[in-house]
Amino acid sequence: MTGKTATTNHRKMITVRSVKNSGAFFSLLPIFTVTTTTTNHTIFLFYSTTPTSSYSSSYKFLPPSSTTLSPSIPGTPQLQASDVVLSFKEWFKTSSCALLSQIYKILAAQDESALCRLKLRLCEALVLEVLNYGKDVLSCLKFFDWAGRQPGFYHTRSTFNAIFKILSREKLMSIMVGFLENYMKQRYVHRVRFYNTLVMGYAIAGKPEYALQLFGRMRFQGIDLDGFSYHVLLNALVEDGYFDAVEMVAKQIRIRNFESDITCSILVKSFCKQQELDRAEEYLRGVVGNGLALNGHVVGVVVDALCKNNQFEKAGKLVEEFRKMGIVPMEHAYGVWIRRLVQAGKLDGALEFLKCKKLVDGYVPDVFKYNMLICRLLRENRLEEVCDLLIEMKDLQIVPDNVTMNAALCFFCKAGMEDVALELYDSRAEFGLSPNYMAYNYLINTLCGDESVDVAFRVLRDSIEHCYFPRRKTFSILVNALCRAEKLEKMNEMFLVALERNFMPSDSTYDKFISALCRARRVEDGYLLHGQLNGLNKVSSKSTYFNLINGFNMSGRGDIAARLLIEMQEKGHNPTKKLFRAVIYSLSEMENPEKQFLRLLEMQLSHHEPNPMVYNLFIDGAGHAKKPELAREVYEMMKRSDIEPNLSSDILVLQSYLKSEKIADALNFFHDLSRRRKIGRKLYNTIIVGLCKANKPHYAADILLEMRTNHLKPSLECYEVLVQLLCAHQEYYMVVNLVEDLINIGRPVSSFIGNVLLLHSLKTEELFGAWARSIDVHNLTPSSLMLGELIGAFSGCKAGKDIEIIGELIERCFPLDIYTYNMLLRRLCMSDMDHACKFFKKLCEKGYEPNRWTYDTLVHGFFRHGRTTEARRWMDEMFGRGFDLTDATKKFT
Ligand SMILES: *[C@@H]1O[C@H](CO)[C@@H](O)[C@H](O)[C@H]1NC(C)=O
Ligand SMILES: *[C@@H]1O[C@H](CO)[C@@H](O)[C@H](O)[C@H]1NC(C)=O
Ligand SMILES: *[C@@H]1O[C@H](CO)[C@@H](O)[C@H](O)[C@H]1NC(C)=O
Repeated sequence: MTGKTATTNHRKMITVRSVKNSGAFFSLLPIFTVTTTTTNHTIFLFYSTTPTSSYSSSYKFLPPSSTTLSPSIPGTPQLQASDVVLSFKEWFKTSSCALLSQIYKILAAQDESALCRLKLRLCEALVLEVLNYGKDVLSCLKFFDWAGRQPGFYHTRSTFNAIFKILSREKLMSIMVGFLENYMKQRYVHRVRFYNTLVMGYAIAGKPEYALQLFGRMRFQGIDLDGFSYHVLLNALVEDGYFDAVEMVAKQIRIRNFESDITCSILVKSFCKQQELDRAEEYLRGVVGNGLALNGHVVGVVVDALCKNNQFEKAGKLVEEFRKMGIVPMEHAYGVWIRRLVQAGKLDGALEFLKCKKLVDGYVPDVFKYNMLICRLLRENRLEEVCDLLIEMKDLQIVPDNVTMNAALCFFCKAGMEDVALELYDSRAEFGLSPNYMAYNYLINTLCGDESVDVAFRVLRDSIEHCYFPRRKTFSILVNALCRAEKLEKMNEMFLVALERNFMPSDSTYDKFISALCRARRVEDGYLLHGQLNGLNKVSSKSTYFNLINGFNMSGRGDIAARLLIEMQEKGHNPTKKLFRAVIYSLSEMENPEKQFLRLLEMQLSHHEPNPMVYNLFIDGAGHAKKPELAREVYEMMKRSDIEPNLSSDILVLQSYLKSEKIADALNFFHDLSRRRKIGRKLYNTIIVGLCKANKPHYAADILLEMRTNHLKPSLECYEVLVQLLCAHQEYYMVVNLVEDLINIGRPVSSFIGNVLLLHSLKTEELFGAWARSIDVHNLTPSSLMLGELIGAFSGCKAGKDIEIIGELIERCFPLDIYTYNMLLRRLCMSDMDHACKFFKKLCEKGYEPNRWTYDTLVHGFFRHGRTTEARRWMDEMFGRGFDLTDATKKFT
């Protein structure tokens, strides 16, 4: 089935929509060309090339086309995916899986009359097929028993052999012995001689020593085995490595003239088992040389042994040698050779061999070889070849079995035709397909990628019903998809089933679920799940604890949050500062917060060596919960316990006062400290920033002055927040002094400060006024003078300077950032929108990233100037970048 044979006139093509999943394969765009003849469809698969795809040159290359179903050859009708479904359905219906599964359903229901109503035409082949399909021993036995009682059918050696094999496989010796005893009383005894059967039974059951004993007893009683039983015994002896006995029994066979090509096969197997491969080959050639009969099987045995010993070259030569002789049928040897090549991963060799034998010998592999090749190719994502083989099987009317159908399902998933796969899946009852693990996994994975989460979930339910629980990765893919779709009920169901089955989802999977529950304000359910996992000795991850504790903080259950905190420590997780804050916050929201808080503190202290760390965590937590008195109490407890509070403790207590705007307490504490020891930079910086945040510019300024008097350099942040606050309070004179001080201590004017100053000079001329007055009073530094000039220019006091010049001026005062540019833009927008647009372009060219305010300023400007169309155009551009308008600009729209 290569492109060359595609000669039919009804050539249609469908392009299958592209696959959204990631991964190496999924970047391919599979394209199906469907060639229709009157009887069946032939599908050719083409690929767009990617460097990794195994692109075969005999295939016509088609570029990936649009993502809809569309005819790629003009003038030809369109072929729907449903046509593909239809043709595969018809093929699948030829499989006997439906009948077999029906038989087993009836057997399970113990309904003999239903079995009779099926009107099966019993024959050896059918009984063997049913027995081979069997999943449980009991059903097999029931069927065997029932079949034996049907008029006109007698069990044969092969059917006995099959049931013995099933029994021995299941190691059910007691059933076997019971069976053998029972069998003596049955009416079909006369068909096969008792001893023969018994010896065979033990031989097959892997008990050749009993079989030998029995054989001895028989011979003593003057009874002999028949030829078939002799061979079964001989085979069992070989299988179990009783090579001495092999020689003896082989001799008996020879004496009785039972020797046949079967004997030869078994002996060759014996040589192979003893690693005498050369002897095996020699023996084989000897048999041929003596003109004796040889069956095809025996060549396969040697080929198999050679391959097992990694002598592929020799094996290949042997296959060729016997093919050329033309005296034995080669199907079996070919089959073995292909199987071994596939197993060794020599897929190209196997495909090449197959192609050649098909052409030369007309060899058609059986369904098992096809399955094997297809499954292996599927695993390696060689979908093109999988497709070829499936089509070939279909065309040759090879009856598919469950493996074929499952492989086809996986193939359609992999090829991005999940709709076809799903339809075949949904019609599975029609052809008795029971999906296997892999098919379920592929379907679920693919459907999740396709956002068909509900369908994926339905498939999952089916799979669980059939006792297939998905792989961990599939499970987490489905959970993620359900999580994205916020289908909590379904997720819940999945986890409950998982836990019932002792299946452990990965940490990240159930963490996602618990987080989703917490987000949906269902932290109790999350906690329940967590409890169940705990019961299974599973330690929740740190982030799970984190989500739960935060969830209980949100729902005001501080008691549970605290319990979780302790539990996680017991499980070896180290809670973060943030987690402590959440727990302490939630405790502070409960009744009796002090009691709860102190109890938790005591518990924590009992777990650790006394050190400032635990205390500090609680001071920090109390501060964030706006409970400064509790923070202070911990601080005092610390001192009472002879733990010297360190600098961090001091800072945290101070911050707790400032955060709650307890200014007097903060100042008192600060002064107490300064009476005890010398205050360092960090404490000063803390109180200055804290006072500014609490909107107390004068206290902050006083303390900054005190700091300067003590010859300490305040941090840049102190200056920044204070400049901002003083500007807000219109204390421009103080601002000028502060900036002058900043320059004096040798710190550069930051963009932040510069921007604040520019912003205020846009609003008012008073800032410049304050500067002008300062010049008269003090000797300002050159930097300060230059800043004054800039402020003047910007407030429009000194007209005539254009923006370019102002830009240069700014560069000399402080580094520009996007906020600075926004401000300049705003200044321009007041007068000249065209210039503003040019400026916008320029700032982009300089590599600055325009932000929400940049766009907003332009839109605002255009509206202001009545240029509505342009305003709207810029608005669209802005929305396109995911920004929204500020309230001030919204008013215009
Ligand atoms: C196909 O059925 C056989 C039983 O006949 C079973 O052992 C095998 O696992 C099934 N294979 C798949 C792929 O379902
Ligand atoms: C605790 O919950 C409250 C709302 O109840 C929230 O404001 C606070 O930020 C949460 N604390 C932490 C540390 O998550
Ligand atoms: C105070 O003590 C804690 C805990 O020992 C430590 O982590 C912290 O760094 C200390 N702070 C200072 C400023 O030394």
